[in-house]
Amino acid sequence: MRADPHTVCADPATIALRGLTRRDALIGAAVFLAARPSNLLAAAPGAAAGKAGLIRLDSNENPYGPSPAARQAILASVSEAPRYAAATMATLTAQLAAHEGVDGSQIVIGTGSGELLRMTALLAIASGSGGELVASKPTYEELPVFAGKLGLGVHWVASDADHRHDLAAMRAAVTGLTPLVYVCNPNNPTGTAVSRDALESFIRSVPASCTVLVDEAYMDFADQPGVATAAGLVKDVPNVIVLRTFSKIHGLAGLRIGYAITPAALAGRFAALSLTWPNTTGLSAAIASFNDHAFLRRTRAALVGDRERVHATLDRMGRHRAVAQGNFVFFDTGGPLQQFQDRMLGAGIKVGRHFDGYDTWARVTIGVHHEVDRFLAALPRALGS
Ligand SMILES: Cc1ncc(COP(=O)(O)O)c(C=O)c1O
Repeated sequence: MRADPHTVCADPATIALRGLTRRDALIGAAVFLAARPSNLLAAAPGAAAGKAGLIRLDSNENPYGPSPAARQAILASVSEAPRYAAATMATLTAQLAAHEGVDGSQIVIGTGSGELLRMTALLAIASGSGGELVASKPTYEELPVFAGKLGLGVHWVASDADHRHDLAAMRAAVTGLTPLVYVCNPNNPTGTAVSRDALESFIRSVPASCTVLVDEAYMDFADQPGVATAAGLVKDVPNVIVLRTFSKIHGLAGLRIGYAITPAALAGRFAALSLTWPNTTGLSAAIASFNDHAFLRRTRAALVGDRERVHATLDRMGRHRAVAQGNFVFFDTGGPLQQFQDRMLGAGIKVGRHFDGYDTWARVTIGVHHEVDRFLAALPRALGS
């Protein structure tokens, strides 16, 4: 029987009781002490990254993570390494299914939501419809790029004047042959979001033969009225899949856990396209993090608060920007992006890459508080103002 991942990091006395050696007990004590939340927090990159090191504001990661509970689960998961991850996966699946109010078979766990994005491209190809993927431009490119490699054409639809998905134009691009629409909400790199109501009308308007994939990697950071998860739709819409990830608010990007919430009608076909197995450490961390509500609340408050500080500064400086709903901000630097990137790098800060059609715009991830301080201090010079 599988040991509970939350209790395998036993205290030395328990180890001694099991008749293990003194050396085992000492190792156990070291692991136990290292796993104390205070020690783990001290080791957090957000807390420990010195003012001198390179500040990485380029990949929309969350340096507040992992949560204290997840750090403990990660250490404890060492004992589970010899085992395949099936039981740990079942635990996480049951937890997510209960949270979403769906059957466990409707939750598909992936090695990051990136795997699930790729599985959706495979689903579209398997439909054999011959139609194209419809996606907004710019958006997160993992799915469109992979779809392109499989020979699935991409019909790009320009975002609207507010850099949001233009749902009316996307609907107009959907034909009876379209196998898949990708909606990234909030969107990467623009950070903008469409409302739950607008999205539901869109989803219900497309033919049942067309799957709408809603990627909610950043939904936990959204605070605009009307913006909310579309996950509940899987209960009565047969052609929508919603993706979530443990890489963003949970700060577990390196451990590669994401999940899909699928309608019962699609679940089996979708799950069958999985190519990898998530690992016990990532799964154990995800189980613990999901229940660490205090950490999630604190992290969201810190990142959303600092996102507002960046917004306010850009507004004071008169810079065009999109309305950020993720853990990053997208704005017009007013000059070549490369120049802004170089100046920021000179100040020890790495910002995001270039996006087609937005040659002067920068995407900057919200880091921990002192990193945002450093970014804001460097901003006037980097913008040449
Ligand atoms: C919108 C979006 N979806 C999905 C992903 C993939 O995340 P992961 O594979 O780490 O779950 C990312 C990563 O940055 C993203 O920005």
